[in-house]
Amino acid sequence: MSEALLQLGELSADERALVDAARTASERAYCRYSGYSVGAALRAEDGRIFVGCNVENASYGATMCAERSAIFGMVSAGLRRITAVCVYAPGEPMAMPCGMCRQVISEFCLDAPVLVAGPRGVLRRNFAALLPEAFRFDPEPAP
Ligand code: THU
Repeated sequence: MSEALLQLGELSADERALVDAARTASERAYCRYSGYSVGAALRAEDGRIFVGCNVENASYGATMCAERSAIFGMVSAGLRRITAVCVYAPGEPMAMPCGMCRQVISEFCLDAPVLVAGPRGVLRRNFAALLPEAFRFDPEPAP
């Protein structure tokens, strides 16, 4: 990824709030096996921000990513639409959402800005470009 990264001053206030929330969540990561902290923050349709961090496990496959932790919190609070996502990793490489998280995001989002952030700056992507032709049973995301 050699393209120039956006700096915080180039983001909107709403985007900066999302990056801040994801950074704070990354400080709570439970990542004793990989040492790779990740925080995620997503904005729901009512404007609220939900956060998550990666939670690893001695049985490695039981590990949960930050993005899905945040999504499960949002759905558990009764919300079903993601309008923006930020994933923050203080280390390298920057945390592009993994394939499984992209699939789970797609359940609640047709398209939304995705900010991939770290100490060096921020990449802005559109979710639709991160998971083209996503598998879904319905043409619309979950009601
Ligand atoms: N991880 C995430 O939390 N989100 C991603 O999209 C990529 C990977 C976590 C899982 C694991 O705890 C660590 O990063 C290393 O893979």
